[in-house]
Amino acid sequence: MKKDIIVLGIESSCDETAASVVKNGREVLSSIVNSQIDIHKQYGGVVPEIASRNHVQNIDVVVKEALDQAKVGIKDIDYVAVTYGAGLVGALLVGVSFAKAFCQANDIPLVKVNHIEGHICANYITHPDLEPPFTCLLASGGHTAIVDVQSYTDYTVLKTTIDDACGEAFDKVARTLGLCYPGGVQIDKLAQNGVADTEFKSVVLKDGNFSYSGLKTGVINYVHNLAQKGIQPDKNNLAKSFTVAAIKGVVDEAVKIADQSHKKLCVAGGVGANSYMREYATQQCDKRGIKIFLPQLKYCGDNAAMIASQGYFLAREGIDLAGLDLNACPTLTLKTKN
Ligand code: KG4
Ligand code: ZN
Repeated sequence: MKKDIIVLGIESSCDETAASVVKNGREVLSSIVNSQIDIHKQYGGVVPEIASRNHVQNIDVVVKEALDQAKVGIKDIDYVAVTYGAGLVGALLVGVSFAKAFCQANDIPLVKVNHIEGHICANYITHPDLEPPFTCLLASGGHTAIVDVQSYTDYTVLKTTIDDACGEAFDKVARTLGLCYPGGVQIDKLAQNGVADTEFKSVVLKDGNFSYSGLKTGVINYVHNLAQKGIQPDKNNLAKSFTVAAIKGVVDEAVKIADQSHKKLCVAGGVGANSYMREYATQQCDKRGIKIFLPQLKYCGDNAAMIASQGYFLAREGIDLAGLDLNACPTLTLKTKN
């Protein structure tokens, strides 16, 4: 009988310290996420040094909790998978250093995982039957791209943002509206009670890539112009108008690409939790007979289960096994189509 492969995933690229135990790449035995949001909220965004300090303080407790909850001992772990990029360098270094020490002390092989690829793998956890190839719309706080997923370990960026990421635009617009960090989820709540009564500039460029800086400036100028006339914007309607502008175009592009290729579209990343994104993408895919896959909400944002999942698929192919010389790579990307 084929042996089950148990992977311990470790994630510390931004403001979540996370650890997870995953069986055979898809079955989550535990997923612990220690979020620092309440700490960073008071500063209006993530403070890198504070994030690193909190990772250092929490990481061993989070890993122990993940093992305990999964009822797995150290001897049962086949691989440790750790995020080594992209992200905040100081934050990444905590996870990487912990993972190296843990593997060295317990004689366990280490796999290095690209955080962006991890987000895509969140879909394998939610959908046991999902197999590549498929098209993925990835939208997070740091990235916005349409990715061609050729295999469990082979990714090509087809379209990408040339400036801000989609989640970043959500957070900046939220700040303009006086909402606290992280703003995406707050805008989502307001937008659910609003109508899109203002049209903002499309984020889709002529070549199918994206730009969010114009949309962000457009919303900020709109709010300031109203303020100069002593008018307060209707926050629900403004949130909905912005959401439609931020999401509709990228979904349309992703659906078009999925329609011309694999007829399967996955959504990934923090913005994948957005209710309009989920509803609109589902609607558009259904219209064209494209199969849509949405990760469970808890696997849209940063977590370590998605890292363990990608770690399993890499280890299975003997790719990206790492040694003690592994370093953090804050600007790690995916390969781009030439
Ligand atoms: O994937 P993620 O957790 O971290 C990165 O890898 O960047 O994404 C975080 C981003 C933040 O910008 C956050 O505001 C956004 O995802 N986000 C949302 C929602 N939930 C999180 N944006 C829109 N609607 C949401 N419901
Ligand atoms: Zn992320």
